[in-house]
Amino acid sequence: MIFFLYTLLLFIQLHTKADKPFCQMMGDPNYPLISKDGDVTIGALFPIRSIETLPSFEFTQKPQLLSCSSVNLRGFRMAQTMIFATDEINNSKSLLPNISIGYRIYDTCGSRLSSVSATMALMNGQEFAAEDTCNGQSPIHAIIGETESSATVILSRTTGPFKIPVISHSATCECLSNRKNYPSFFRTIASDYHQSRALAYIIKHLLVLGGGCEQKKGFVWSTLRNSTEQSLKNFEKWWRQLKKSTAKVIVAFLTSFEMENLLEQLSTENITGHQMIGVEAWITAKSLIGPNSFRVLGGSLGFAVRKIDIEGFADYVTKSFWETAFPCSQRERNLPQYALSCNIYQDLLLLKNYSEDVPEQRYSSNVYKAVYSVANSLHSLLKCKEKKGCEKDLKIEPQQVVEALKRVNFTVKMGDRVLFDSTGATVAQYEVVNWQKDSDGSIQFTPVGCYDASLPPDQRFVLKTENIIWTGGQLEKGRPVCCYDCIPCAEGEISNETDSNNCKQCPREYWSNAEKNKCVLQAIEFLSFTEFMGVVLVFFSLFGVGLTALVAILFYSKKDTPIVKANNSELSLLLLFSLTLCFLCSLTFIGRPTEWSCMLRHSIWNNFCPLYLLCSRENNSCVNGLQGYTSRK
Ligand SMILES: *[C@@H]1O[C@H](CO)[C@@H](O)[C@H](O)[C@H]1NC(C)=O
Ligand SMILES: *[C@@H]1O[C@H](CO)[C@@H](O)[C@H](O)[C@H]1NC(C)=O
Ligand SMILES: *[C@@H]1O[C@H](CO)[C@@H](O)[C@H](O)[C@H]1NC(C)=O
Ligand SMILES: *[C@@H]1O[C@H](CO)[C@@H](O)[C@H](O)[C@H]1NC(C)=O
Ligand SMILES: *[C@@H]1O[C@H](CO)[C@@H](O)[C@H](O)[C@H]1NC(C)=O
Ligand SMILES: *[C@@H]1O[C@H](CO)[C@@H](O)[C@H](O)[C@H]1NC(C)=O
Ligand SMILES: *[C@@H]1O[C@H](CO)[C@@H](O)[C@H](O)[C@H]1NC(C)=O
Ligand SMILES: *[C@@H]1O[C@H](CO)[C@@H](O)[C@H](O)[C@H]1NC(C)=O
Repeated sequence: MIFFLYTLLLFIQLHTKADKPFCQMMGDPNYPLISKDGDVTIGALFPIRSIETLPSFEFTQKPQLLSCSSVNLRGFRMAQTMIFATDEINNSKSLLPNISIGYRIYDTCGSRLSSVSATMALMNGQEFAAEDTCNGQSPIHAIIGETESSATVILSRTTGPFKIPVISHSATCECLSNRKNYPSFFRTIASDYHQSRALAYIIKHLLVLGGGCEQKKGFVWSTLRNSTEQSLKNFEKWWRQLKKSTAKVIVAFLTSFEMENLLEQLSTENITGHQMIGVEAWITAKSLIGPNSFRVLGGSLGFAVRKIDIEGFADYVTKSFWETAFPCSQRERNLPQYALSCNIYQDLLLLKNYSEDVPEQRYSSNVYKAVYSVANSLHSLLKCKEKKGCEKDLKIEPQQVVEALKRVNFTVKMGDRVLFDSTGATVAQYEVVNWQKDSDGSIQFTPVGCYDASLPPDQRFVLKTENIIWTGGQLEKGRPVCCYDCIPCAEGEISNETDSNNCKQCPREYWSNAEKNKCVLQAIEFLSFTEFMGVVLVFFSLFGVGLTALVAILFYSKKDTPIVKANNSELSLLLLFSLTLCFLCSLTFIGRPTEWSCMLRHSIWNNFCPLYLLCSRENNSCVNGLQGYTSRK
């Protein structure tokens, strides 16, 4: 009876809930740092501040919110670029006319933890916290972010099942090119695949310049790896390798964090004079600039994202942004309740008058392009016409935005064409920069060349060597360090000069000496008839032959007896003959080899003896277990 009642209760409970989906927010809502509502909304995740303390994970109390401080200027400029671009689009008559474009910008504090939390908040929105219902529709149309590859992997994997497009402005990991795992991922930067090709160009160039190699030798040493979470476990290993080697050129395919470690090691051990070849991840990183870094990294060459000036942005960051877009603009700040919430923007307010870094920002243009890509795809989805406006009430599924993003092809006002290839990335265009010191002692990233993958192979890479200042500070025209290690010639090859480019093959029957600088006649080793082993072998061989011959004679003389007849005398004799030859074949391996005995060995072992496997089948030479003779062809 009780069971029946319980079931009934459960049924009623389930039934009443079924007609209205029940949603409840677990925990506190996570609000964006900066946001504005619009007809369409773009989400974004930028590392605007750095994490200060990690919450405790003792699971005895509700985790505290992360506390973040110290503004990361680069991240903040990205957020400003995004707001700048949405403002531009909002005011544009041709792109999304009649549609206001909103944004929700979250600060990830450079931590995966708050990045995931912000991703969830972006996907869910805060609407249902108030209304108690879910409409199953994400309030945002696309997410711009993350900055680091590993965080981007987490972001795209989280949003993947919901088909929400993610556009990264700086994640370069090749792993993200996998369309199967990341079907809705795009990026306004090229993948590392292109960068490794570009690196090959720069190394080739250096080798050509290296020429005669009178300078100290070195070799190219690099760690090429997936840039996902590979910790510094390997660091110890390659650090030991580096110290042992005579390398003068280091190709450092590292993240900026790993590079900081390397820099620290190099400067504490006072290891200088290496020509560094770097990648976009660290070559222009401000975090590497310190009192000691030029000693180690001065003269470094590397690929950087092209610096593009966004027209009007420099003015915007000092004026309009603080007047209109900033959450605590003047007119609101008079109210007491704003004074409280404006507290969290204190450290950002300090940047109000600062814009010197704006021309140095390299990723801002990528954020700008990402915002415009979303706007362009929404423009086509909402069937916008310049005169008639857009069909504002059309419902847009995230999957439609993904499809539209695949088709975008437009030009931004800086003149760059934006379109995504089959992997979701834009075309690879890099600037080659050189670490140089300015007259006032500050470190400059001077452009000395460029790489553009959209051009034909022979025009892709341009390097102005005359502008390069190599490591050590000397301005040597076309004379960089030699970047290869001289290794001894291979067996059988010689070189009679040091530092030669090639080795020479020794003639037939000659072999290289230990120093690999002379060809010497090959010592011919063989088993002689007089050696103990030879005598034993000959004895057994002849003994076997004698025994077989005896049996054969016996068979022949008694060929008319019934027992021999029953055994098929012809076949038996043939077998005995073969057996004789088999015993004899070991004799061909004894004594000084001749061309005939060598040929004989080969065919005998191949045809008669089960040990024929010892004969080399690849190069048809007489190599086997019983003799020491090798004839080189
Ligand atoms: C877009 O522009 C209109 C006026 O042009 C303005 O009222 C609106 O607030 C703007 N929206 C955003 C999100 O900037
Ligand atoms: C790099 O990634 C590929 C596939 O994405 C994988 O097969 C390979 O093992 C990875 N290498 C390292 C060093 O993690
Ligand atoms: C590092 O080496 C340079 C020259 O090789 C030397 O002048 C300098 O004093 C050294 N510095 C330290 C801290 O050992
Ligand atoms: C910015 O500059 C203006 C004058 O140009 C000055 O009044 C204001 O205090 C400055 N703000 C900050 C935060 O330095
Ligand atoms: C924009 O929409 C408003 C009403 O929503 C309409 O009056 C106006 O004509 C539209 N403008 C264009 C260019 O379509
Ligand atoms: C993009 O547009 C330009 C000019 O409209 C055109 O030349 C180019 O072929 C287009 N690219 C693709 C991939 O459709
Ligand atoms: C190396 O050998 C070549 C010919 O084999 C000869 O012409 C040349 O002079 C030799 N060089 C030296 C340094 O012995
Ligand atoms: C011939 O092949 C054997 C093994 O297959 C190898 O050990 C030997 O070095 C080769 N000889 C030549 C001259 O390449």
